[in-house]
Amino acid sequence: MESNQRKWWKEGVVYQIYPRSFQDTKGNGIGDIQGIIKRLDYIKSLGIDIIWLCPVYESPNDDNGYDISDYRNIMSEFGTMADFDQLLEGMHQRGLKLVMDLVVNHTSDEHFWFRESRKSRENPYRDYYHWWPAEKGIPPKRFSYFDVDGDAWKYDEQTNSYYLHYFSVKQPDLKWENPKVRREIYEMMHFWFKKGVDGFRMDVIPFISKDVSYPELPEKYNGNFVPFYANGPKLHEYLHEMNKEVLSKYDIMTVGETPGVDRDQALLFVDEDREELNMFFHFELMSLDREGDEVFWMRKDPWKLTEFKKIFSDWDETFAEKGWGSLFLSNHDNPRTVSRWGNDTSEHWYNATTMLHSFLLTMKGTPYFYYGDEIGMTNIRFDAIKDYQDINTLNRYALLKQQGMDLDTFLENEKEASRDNGRTPMQWDSSENSGFSNSRPWLKVNSNYKDGINVESQEADSNSVLNYFRKMVQVRKDHLGLVYGNYRLLLGENEEVYAYTRIMDTEKYLVLLSFSTEKTTVDISAENFGTLDLIISNDASNAHLGNGAFELQSYQACVYRFG
Ligand code: NOJ
Repeated sequence: MESNQRKWWKEGVVYQIYPRSFQDTKGNGIGDIQGIIKRLDYIKSLGIDIIWLCPVYESPNDDNGYDISDYRNIMSEFGTMADFDQLLEGMHQRGLKLVMDLVVNHTSDEHFWFRESRKSRENPYRDYYHWWPAEKGIPPKRFSYFDVDGDAWKYDEQTNSYYLHYFSVKQPDLKWENPKVRREIYEMMHFWFKKGVDGFRMDVIPFISKDVSYPELPEKYNGNFVPFYANGPKLHEYLHEMNKEVLSKYDIMTVGETPGVDRDQALLFVDEDREELNMFFHFELMSLDREGDEVFWMRKDPWKLTEFKKIFSDWDETFAEKGWGSLFLSNHDNPRTVSRWGNDTSEHWYNATTMLHSFLLTMKGTPYFYYGDEIGMTNIRFDAIKDYQDINTLNRYALLKQQGMDLDTFLENEKEASRDNGRTPMQWDSSENSGFSNSRPWLKVNSNYKDGINVESQEADSNSVLNYFRKMVQVRKDHLGLVYGNYRLLLGENEEVYAYTRIMDTEKYLVLLSFSTEKTTVDISAENFGTLDLIISNDASNAHLGNGAFELQSYQACVYRFG
């Protein structure tokens, strides 16, 4: 099967919702499912086709729902299963598809399976998790993302054993090597598909397979354990099995979250003939502004546009014949799009935000937008540790404090890097708490909701970021060549302008994007475009000076049809 075969999940535009931060209807400062229902008409009005909903399952919220204690129930803070059913029905009535989060590398330690597993070495659920008997000594080193000590083995007195947790101590890793575990997971997936959900985004899916002899970590992975975690011996066997047993039986979409997976491995996951997944989120872009393997530390020198282009161009090439890419600039684990890849100063915010919208919507691959991107929400940049809620920031702070490290530098870093930047409540209007909640929100609202970064005021302005987003989504929908057309990079060495063509038969597009705070000129006359008709631009200035010479305003985006 070729990558250009038409599919709804290739043509759709995705909107990711972090339910805790979207809309509170209960007045407890926490978003809920009724809040999403209330906003479905709004989401539909954006031109969105698919909603990816971060976890809404029962959870003690050590990691905001990524620690699940019951896969078949809804978190009471968010509502009930009846609310969920109403949400799904409301979405389907509007022609919206629902993609759920599937978190099956680990459960919560409060899940029934783990509560049983830790009771005794003979318990029938013992082998649902990874245990290391303490009489064998200290287990070989494994790193944990969220552990205060960075140690992924936690000693559990009750059975004098250690259990494995790649994330927090409250997120023990499931043992996929046990066929019973796989069966339970597949049945749970059927449960949701039978309800009618339209797909899954699969949390850290490459981590599920482990070498259960737990060898010493090979030297080369010390300090960069992620590729080791992502290359378990039976990963593809399990994904293929999951596809055969579950996924292939429904018209659904899947997108894996794949830290540690590089381009050489890409087609192992998404070559259609291998029957595993449809798409995945690689981590190359999200690492671009980070310090080497230190994924949570900002790098010292600024990232370069040529590096950015290379990442998108290389990945495009990876999927040129087979597979399909996913495009995203932010999500709930990352800072805000415009603050990170554009410019959120008042002078440049409008053009930078809309330029980045234009980018994702003219690239090849399925575009994923994160709630609030459509109105240009920005990083909150907290000054004090007390404002943070994220376990990642809090535990790293605790660790550095314990080690006597420089906490001011850490707080400066978190202003740009922290996940809470991307989790602040949705900015609906200019009333108190931005219309998100009528009581104190679980995480502070960005005060710029009072300065026009809110839905209500942008609705009223036909030239707002929000209305540009809608127009740009429509441009993609009206031009199938922007979905399937071949991508070709122009001006690869230019550090200010990202230029490319998209061509499908007679449909030919030229996209020009300025990433500069200054006016820039480019000359692409060698390309012989013929006629150039402007389809959309985020700036009133006409960039084309004639004969393939262009002058772009700061952060200007232009999409032309040529030929
Ligand atoms: C990736 C998720 O996106 C993140 O939010 C979570 O903390 C970890 N996986 C653990 O589930």
